[in-house]
Amino acid sequence: MVTNVGMLGYGTVGAGVAWIMFGQGELLSQKVGHPLRLVKAVVRDLAAKRDNPPPLGFLTDDPLEVVGNPDIQVVVEVMGGIEPARSLILRALESGQHVVTANKALLATHGRELFDTAAAHGRELNFEAAAAGAIPVIRTLKEGLAANRIRSVFGILNGTTNYILDLMTKDRTHSVPYEAHLKAAQDLGYAEADPTMDVDGTDAAQKLVLLTALAYGTLPTVDDVRPEGITRLEPLDFVFADELGYVIKLLAMANLPKEGGRLEVRLKPTMIPKEHLLAGVPGAMNAVMIRGHAAGDIFLSGAGAGMRPTASAVVGDIIDTAKVGATGHPSAQPSLGWHGIKAEGILPPGESRTRHFLRFTVRDLPGVLSAISGILGRHGISIAQVIQRGSGPEGAPVTLVMLTHTAKEKDVEEALVEASRLDALTAGTRRVTVEDFGDK
Ligand code: NAP
Ligand code: HSE
Repeated sequence: MVTNVGMLGYGTVGAGVAWIMFGQGELLSQKVGHPLRLVKAVVRDLAAKRDNPPPLGFLTDDPLEVVGNPDIQVVVEVMGGIEPARSLILRALESGQHVVTANKALLATHGRELFDTAAAHGRELNFEAAAAGAIPVIRTLKEGLAANRIRSVFGILNGTTNYILDLMTKDRTHSVPYEAHLKAAQDLGYAEADPTMDVDGTDAAQKLVLLTALAYGTLPTVDDVRPEGITRLEPLDFVFADELGYVIKLLAMANLPKEGGRLEVRLKPTMIPKEHLLAGVPGAMNAVMIRGHAAGDIFLSGAGAGMRPTASAVVGDIIDTAKVGATGHPSAQPSLGWHGIKAEGILPPGESRTRHFLRFTVRDLPGVLSAISGILGRHGISIAQVIQRGSGPEGAPVTLVMLTHTAKEKDVEEALVEASRLDALTAGTRRVTVEDFGDK
């Protein structure tokens, strides 16, 4: 018996998969128990100049040389995007081929259809690389922690933004804007083809959708998560975060309160205590902290993006798929959602309760502080700490930072809308969620 693998895509991830499979072919075949061969990859532009040129004849621009080809048993989708990836995966499954994909955008939006099709045809659909790069978090949830009721999943799920936030935290001049760091992340191969998906939080929210589905058996939408990206953060936010004992991370969270209640899912730039394990996750690394009712806390960390780390997860899936395929008995696919918590069991956006960091720019005039605190008070928001920075003649703009006690996000947003009508405000107000992990 032989397992032949065909790829859809030969970009960053596809070239990494080829690097591992061509370089380690014999070892991988031993692990599978029979010969495992990568035989074809589909690209858009055959004439494109490639940093990692493959063997002659390996590339094709015809997807049907891979999809539906009876000589290819495993199709690896690393082309990205929704179409034609969705149609090609469906066609491969319907043709009896197993599929491995790294495409979180596709699974987060069409996961149900794809997993139902895989189940209907008794085929494997594996996706380890879609959640946290090289980190085996899908296997951990599906297998290692299968005995547990999952209380919470916290994670840093996007390498590009963690790379940018890490540089902004370490930049003591606090003068380099995030755009300059984004260019570096793109050059290193971390960013999506359209990096907007990284910096606006969509990519990490899609990954959170997948982890939530596996952890809780519910399939939230990216809208349920209401992702907030990093584009509005300014160097001053990092200065104050540092002073207050926090680090800013793009934090993904799914949390089922201990005392019961609805599942909270959110993805936002968040100030987390400097001493928390997630605060120290550097560069393009990802990390996931899972709390199981029996296992307690599990912390996984590793490369979240990039050619070889992502390919490591893809090839791991190829090996598993080839082993299962050889038995002729597909593994029991955990459905992505629709068997556990129902959609109405998800906390609506705005109902989250955390502390908040508020940064106002105001004219330094009598009564301004009390006007702002009065508005917050009327919305039931209690202030824990106040810092005023900047000095000059009376009436000059100063920065006023407030750290609130725990408050509902919706109440804080309403209070900020009311405060924005104050004449003394000279610029928009920044709000950053603060997570102390106290009750989580
Ligand atoms: P990429 O570098 O843009 O590569 C995409 C590849 O697919 C290219 O070879 C491209 O062909 C081919 N392709 C795209 N559309 C096609 C079409 N319509 N027909 C035929 N070929 C097509 O993307 P990537 O960074 O490798 O990412 C691939 C997937 O992995 C995405 O779903 C991404 O979200 C996911 N992922 C990426 C990373 C990462 O670190 N990069 C990590 C985890 C998951 P050409 O070469 O001719 O343009
Ligand atoms: N663009 C993604 C990131 C790739 O930066 O994390 C890994 O999914």
